[in-house]
Amino acid sequence: MLPEPEPAARAASERLAARIRAEIRQAQGWLPFVRYMELALHAPGLGYYAGGSAKLGAAGDFATAPEMGPLFARTLARQVAQILQPGEAILEFGAGSGALAVALLDALPGTRYLILETSAELAARQRARLGARAQWIERLPEGFRGVMLANEVLDAMPVHVLAWRREGIQERGVADVDGALAWAERPAAAEVLAAARALQLAPPYESEIGLVARAWLKLVASRLARGALLIVDYGFPEREYYHPQRTAGTLMCHYRHRAHGDPFFHPGLQDITAHLDFTALARAAREAGLEVLGYANQAQFLVNCGITEVLEREDPEDAARYAPRAAEANRLLSPAEMGEIFKVLAVGRGVPERLLGFSDGERSHTL
Ligand SMILES: C[S@@+](CC[C@H](N)C(=O)[O-])C[C@H]1O[C@@H](n2cnc3c(N)ncnc32)[C@H](O)[C@@H]1O
Repeated sequence: MLPEPEPAARAASERLAARIRAEIRQAQGWLPFVRYMELALHAPGLGYYAGGSAKLGAAGDFATAPEMGPLFARTLARQVAQILQPGEAILEFGAGSGALAVALLDALPGTRYLILETSAELAARQRARLGARAQWIERLPEGFRGVMLANEVLDAMPVHVLAWRREGIQERGVADVDGALAWAERPAAAEVLAAARALQLAPPYESEIGLVARAWLKLVASRLARGALLIVDYGFPEREYYHPQRTAGTLMCHYRHRAHGDPFFHPGLQDITAHLDFTALARAAREAGLEVLGYANQAQFLVNCGITEVLEREDPEDAARYAPRAAEANRLLSPAEMGEIFKVLAVGRGVPERLLGFSDGERSHTL
């Protein structure tokens, strides 16, 4: 059983659910899941990322690598430093609590740091934490030069959900069944149908397609004049994502550190995510004229960047400082935790040198 929300949170969720039901009525009884997910996560004032809940950390719903301590950022800083040329900037998408920005700026003092954050509520928290150390921007700059970072951002982008049935490919969506939100299907059409057909899957099968993330990547690519975009998130290459045995997709919800599969549980109060198809993202980047600079799992990437040396800077005799850092390294690297399921994809232009994080191990041809 999932814990029940407080009355005020419940009331906010009911307001969002009423808004979603009204939109379902206007749309003749059915909304594609991609629209539902956009509203549940990002509807102004009421969506999960737009509303006031804690989200990150112990009091929230999930913990990310930068939230666990400074080791991830200090190690990532080495990769960022290799790419950055004098006068260039860092642009972080979806900076959450601001933890990554703080630790990166400590490691790379004097670097111009831009944040593009869609949640006004999280941007306010970031401002309170970072003050004048960063600059918040509302839209993508033209001709950006430097390093763009997206840690656990693309998994929060709405996905299309598809069902491969004997009668044909259906798009999954949401209907209002006696006042409750419930799954409902319609025949898939146009771009969604074409993307689903291309996967050549045998029914019965359900999964997601990240068309929004691919479009986002193409837009970002068009604004990157020189440098790289590093995407860190959970996901797989296409052959694993759409493996014949993964018949129920990767959609997942997080509520107070419990993972479950019901996206209609108190909309606006829980996170809804899907894994990333890194093959599709790499393809979108290439189509937009970027080069794939590297692809590796998080453990390989951090080891290649020298996480062991970063850890060794802590004095092992000082157990009070060393023990939490060693535990953090273990969570970042262990295949049972974040080491294997999290991947790093680097795409960019005008970066001729082999990137540190991909110097050993898996290469882009495994995408
Ligand atoms: C799961 S949180 C991760 C936060 C942070 N990067 C971290 O690792 O702790 C997702 C973040 O992405 C933001 N976000 C979601 N969609 C976005 C978009 N299209 N552009 C920029 N930020 C976005 C959310 O508001 C939130 O800050």
